[in-house]
Amino acid sequence: MLAGTVIAALVSYLLMVAAFYWHRVRGFHIPVMVGCLLFDLGMPVYLVLNRDWQTRLIEHGDILSFGVWMHFGLIIALFVLYAVQVQTALQILRPKPGEEEVSRSAHRAQAKGILLVRALVIATGAVLAEPPQA
Ligand code: HEM
Repeated sequence: MLAGTVIAALVSYLLMVAAFYWHRVRGFHIPVMVGCLLFDLGMPVYLVLNRDWQTRLIEHGDILSFGVWMHFGLIIALFVLYAVQVQTALQILRPKPGEEEVSRSAHRAQAKGILLVRALVIATGAVLAEPPQA
């Protein structure tokens, strides 16, 4: 059984893929992408407030595990990609003469990186997730 947090993340991933394909529909693309970004920023806060970190990371020693560090590193990479993606999005929305195509191609290339890194964040998170209580 998948944890609720993993199911929510998978649903948000499907929405992100839809918004990736329908980028021309700005009224869909922008709110979904901003929503996914806020979802990803909120998830660590939710987990810190609702899970017993002391027991899991310190007492059980999970903090030294390869899985935890791989997950953490991927999240940092995702947040860096989001920061540059927002910058290029703002450049597309307020284009300077001659620069729009450069911003678009950067936004497009980073988009593929985001889809890959976010899939890996969710996959490594699913491996670490505590199974739901029966
Ligand atoms: C976080 C906030 C984001 C904003 C405000 C934003 C905004 C935009 C805007 C305004 C466009 C131009 C739409 C058009 O007229 O074609 C666009 C295009 C696009 N966006 Fe985003 N975007 C965001 C995040 C993302 C993310 C996270 C991805 C990928 C997972 C993505 C993938 C794309 C792609 C592939 C295009 C088409 C680029 C092209 O070929 O011209 N965007 N985005």
